[in-house]
Amino acid sequence: MQSPPSSSLPSSSTASSASSSSSQRGGVNIPSIRAPSRPHPEQAAGPSRAGWQTAREANDDEDDDSDSSGSEDGSRRPPSSVFSRSTTSGSATSYSFAATDAEGSDAEVFSAGSLSPVPSQYSLTESLRVASKHVEYGREINSYSDVYRLPADTDEISRLDKQHVMFKDVMGDYSSHVKQILQRSNSQQDGEEQIAVLDVGCGSGAWIVDVAREYPNTSCVAVDLVPMPAENVPPNCRYEVDDVNLGLDHYENQFDVVHCRLISSGIRDYYVVIRDAAACLRAGGAADFMEFDFRLYSRQHVAIPTTQKEIWGDTIPPPDFPTAGFLNLPPRTTRSSRSGIVRPTSSPYICRWFAALGQATRKRGGHADAAALLHSWVSGNPDYEDVQYREFWLPYGPWMRGRPEYMALSQYDRFCTIGDLMREDIYEFIRSGRPLLLSAGFPEHIVNKLEAEANREVGEARIPLFFRIQNVYARKKA
Ligand SMILES: C[S@@+](CC[C@H](N)C(=O)[O-])C[C@H]1O[C@@H](n2cnc3c(N)ncnc32)[C@H](O)[C@@H]1O
Repeated sequence: MQSPPSSSLPSSSTASSASSSSSQRGGVNIPSIRAPSRPHPEQAAGPSRAGWQTAREANDDEDDDSDSSGSEDGSRRPPSSVFSRSTTSGSATSYSFAATDAEGSDAEVFSAGSLSPVPSQYSLTESLRVASKHVEYGREINSYSDVYRLPADTDEISRLDKQHVMFKDVMGDYSSHVKQILQRSNSQQDGEEQIAVLDVGCGSGAWIVDVAREYPNTSCVAVDLVPMPAENVPPNCRYEVDDVNLGLDHYENQFDVVHCRLISSGIRDYYVVIRDAAACLRAGGAADFMEFDFRLYSRQHVAIPTTQKEIWGDTIPPPDFPTAGFLNLPPRTTRSSRSGIVRPTSSPYICRWFAALGQATRKRGGHADAAALLHSWVSGNPDYEDVQYREFWLPYGPWMRGRPEYMALSQYDRFCTIGDLMREDIYEFIRSGRPLLLSAGFPEHIVNKLEAEANREVGEARIPLFFRIQNVYARKKA
């Protein structure tokens, strides 16, 4: 599927050059709360005053159906975008298949007959498949990682499949580096090394199965904490069950593409994954990382701050609960651009729910702050070159529907459709986040309240907010 031409999608992000600091990028840098296992070339600037201003705007919009709010001086700003992508070049702008074994049992044979560069061969009986998950808070969760606590059941697989289709529609099928390498597989000569692709944290397998089908001469490997669902897997694809926090040493120098998408909540130290991905790549290979940052952003693409108090209310968080990611904000106020009335401001519940999810991720040991640091980490790694940065702004729901300033845009219908799809995704994701929130130690009454109010806001889809998805891709130096 073709990506939309970027010229038709209003874009507001600024990409910094590969050698410049991440603070030059649009948006807000998030302080990292993790002690790196080795020096990280990261910037840790705090959220800016601009974040406040936009928070006011977002809340202003909530009580102002005409959405005439915007700048501090009350003037109307043009919509920055509904969803957008921006790229700046050279810069920052297994199951291989289900099979029966020789005895005719229903064991799945990983790698058998696979063209994978990895010589391992495992078999997975149904009992092992079952043992890879257990039920927590009503959902099936992987049994191997203490960190990753989002479900691994059929509902989540279905959500990931649908999300993948939507991402392809908005972002295009592959980043340019990856596509170039995959296309080489179509014209390879006998004796040339086969193009090998690794998907780290494959989830439903939607991405790697697409690669395997669209490029049948490639050899594809998927890794996850649980077995990939065993339907329709092409013969040039296989999976391995593994925790990538334990390292990727066994894949050293074996792949031409390494792909990591939305895995940060299960990763203890994303900087190490970036380093390990480089080690897995052959010279000239491409690494592709894509993450989001557990925040929502205003129409002007400024992060909406959420306070600890807005999430926890009068409940005192346990002493071991991480406070990173929260700001020590004085009381905020909003001046309505219509009436001029000043009122206390609080952040939307959907922002609180995501901030709580980020807090729960940190509590479990996941790297919730990786998205904002991807670019500086990859740029600072001497193994990579030609580092590219893209960001995508996706509405959490169809809040632009019926708003005159958006109706004039040529892609208005498409924006609304993406908003509809995102709303369905977020409804499901709010359900998926429950085991993570509860297992991290959030009291049930807080989780219930956040869920109910966030669902209400998602249903109403009145507040103009975006998710920011950051994508960094690069080549391994020859
Ligand atoms: C939100 S899903 C995203 C799936 C897929 N990458 C996609 O974009 O559709 C995150 C996936 O990463 C996997 N994952 C998280 N942490 C992992 C780890 N430490 N090792 C292996 N897989 C991991 C999870 O099991 C889950 O399937």
